[in-house]
Amino acid sequence: MRWWVRVTWDLGHDVILVDNDQAKLNALKTGDVPIHEKFLPELLLRHRDRKLTFSDDLNHAVRASKAIFIAVGTPPTEQGEADLSYVESVARSISGAINGYKVIIEKSTVPVYTSDWVRKIILRNAAAPDSFDVASNPEFLREGTAVTDFLYPDRIVVGADSGRSASVLSQIYAPLTDGSYYQRNDAIPAPDRAHIPPQLIVTSAKSAELIKHASNAFLAMKISFINAVASICESVGANVQQVCQGIGTDSRIGPRFLNPGIGYGGSCFPKDLMAFRAVARECGYEFRLLDEVMRINEEQRQRFLRKVRTALWTLRGKRLGVLGLAFKGGTDDIRESPAILLVQALLQEGCQIAAYDPAAAERSRAVLNSSMEFVNSPYEAANGADALLILTEWEEFAALDLDRLHKQLKYPIVIDGRNLYDPDVMAGHGFTYYSIGREAAMPLTTVNGAVTPARKIRKS
Ligand code: UGA
Repeated sequence: MRWWVRVTWDLGHDVILVDNDQAKLNALKTGDVPIHEKFLPELLLRHRDRKLTFSDDLNHAVRASKAIFIAVGTPPTEQGEADLSYVESVARSISGAINGYKVIIEKSTVPVYTSDWVRKIILRNAAAPDSFDVASNPEFLREGTAVTDFLYPDRIVVGADSGRSASVLSQIYAPLTDGSYYQRNDAIPAPDRAHIPPQLIVTSAKSAELIKHASNAFLAMKISFINAVASICESVGANVQQVCQGIGTDSRIGPRFLNPGIGYGGSCFPKDLMAFRAVARECGYEFRLLDEVMRINEEQRQRFLRKVRTALWTLRGKRLGVLGLAFKGGTDDIRESPAILLVQALLQEGCQIAAYDPAAAERSRAVLNSSMEFVNSPYEAANGADALLILTEWEEFAALDLDRLHKQLKYPIVIDGRNLYDPDVMAGHGFTYYSIGREAAMPLTTVNGAVTPARKIRKS
């Protein structure tokens, strides 16, 4: 089960977390936090063995609970559809343990109609029709900030086809929607832009299922859109950051998820876009827009590789420092990480790579070529390198000591796939600096004692 998706125990509920992976359960029972997630260690410490218990006994957990959240994985099949076999198997097991009215809630990202199927499976396994309801309660949590995203959501979506199940779910979230959670002294601190109290949106189960897929597809589309705009900026010498500011301040568009980069990755967007396209096709609609979003995303990595070639000419034997392996900052997750895919491509081209990631090195070791070096700081990664590549938007990579970095590099070339620095500042510190959707900047030079402005290179 994806056990981290909910921190309902911090809302005062008693939660039994069920998993069939004994090693995972044992680790959790002893206080181990197997993923990098802000505030999770504190919350586990607060609630473990009190509001939160762990078990491999699904029957007992179902009997003891009114609401049962299904949060199993829905990995992609070879055809790109969501594999729902884990959902089905859990639904079957739940049906045998129903001992009174239960709400069975889909938390996993699933295609529209899954709630109908879960209902059918449970009925097929002899549960009485009025002994349960199936509801959809999609999550919009981002890895790395899942705890605050849960406690300070923009909205809570409850997809319930009966008043009874809508009421159970509304009660579960009441401490958030009535604002009482936020009055507590021990509440997890609010992030910027928190909507307090959050809005509760009650929809049909099918609408809720679609809201989840449509939200992720829209966000991915926003990223591909700005990456496509960034490519045009590079061709004409415009600055994508200025374009983002200009379009993002339109409240109808908004500034978030408009950061250009090396493309989106992770365990959600790539998988969910494919699944959404498959669902649409099954319903008789060819969602070609999604194909284009995926194509632009793939192309963005190729463009970055071309940028590295432009900066270094040939790649074989070049030593590269790499900052970041996780699919984004703030997590140790490397699933579908564009950083990993780029490092693999560069290794294949014969580059020597020294990489640093604050959290994802261990996981990366398992998938990357053993010839690769994992180091313990950004400066070690830069040491003696022909160029430094920034591939993940970790906050600490945006606050490097630039003079120290300059001294470490063999050639002061930085290729930034996340636009963490101002090109003029980098040029002022003596770097040749390539980024996304902005002209490359060359070091400032002094002519007869006067400093000339940073020279910009077009079509980086
Ligand atoms: C995403 C959604 O943001 C969550 O709302 C959703 O709940 C989750 O998927 C899910 O379905 O479980 P997550 O995969 O954790 O969350 O990561 P994001 O923060 O959305 O980032 C995804 C990718 O897009 C990363 O590779 C990130 O670097 C990239 N990105 C993000 C950009 O390139 N530009 C941006 O402006 C934002």
